Amino acid sequence: ALSTASDDVGRLTRWADDFPEPGVKFADLTPVFADAKAFRDVIDAMVEAERSLRSEHRAGDGADLVAGIDARGFLLGAGVALALDAGVLAVRKAGKLPPPVLTREYQLEYGTASLEIPADGIELAGRRVLVIDDVLATGGTLGAAVELLGAAGAEVIGIAVVLEIEALDGRSRLAGHPVTSLLRV
Ligand code: PRP
Ligand code: MG
Repeated sequence: ALSTASDDVGRLTRWADDFPEPGVKFADLTPVFADAKAFRDVIDAMVEAERSLRSEHRAGDGADLVAGIDARGFLLGAGVALALDAGVLAVRKAGKLPPPVLTREYQLEYGTASLEIPADGIELAGRRVLVIDDVLATGGTLGAAVELLGAAGAEVIGIAVVLEIEALDGRSRLAGHPVTSLLRV
């Protein structure tokens, strides 16, 4: 499933130069998600990634919660959670959730932003979380997400992304969490 998904992503990703800022090359995965076979292949490959994390994890415990990052990580997170029989958590951009929230600011390739999760209504302590997003670039976004989940007491068992932009070395900012990417460019 991994090689099929890589082919789909390589074929269908739309690259835009100088968006949203001059000098930034933007990977738009919209056509990947809109293609029924590619979307299925990508979700299957992420489920497989979780299975291999599970086998490395003590006691073979898998994820019981999938955290998808605002906005494109939501599409993937819900699909993977359903396939794993896990819950899903939307990690939101700032200002979307009612208080109390936990907040982490992070640097983007372009500007700064903040991510938030609820500090009430959901018990995150002890949850085993797979964190999902579409693209790993500088790692600022996923770094903030894993910090938030850690601050809430959750155990991040790993990170899965569709596309990893290797030159930006985002992996090095992810605090040693195992990262699976379906395609590295
Ligand atoms: C993009 C992408 C990742 C992030 C990767 O999201 O979807 O979430 O950037 O970049 P990083 O590794 O350098 O942090 P964006 O902030 O553009 O927002 P969106 O998902 O809401 O479109
Ligand atoms: Mg994003």
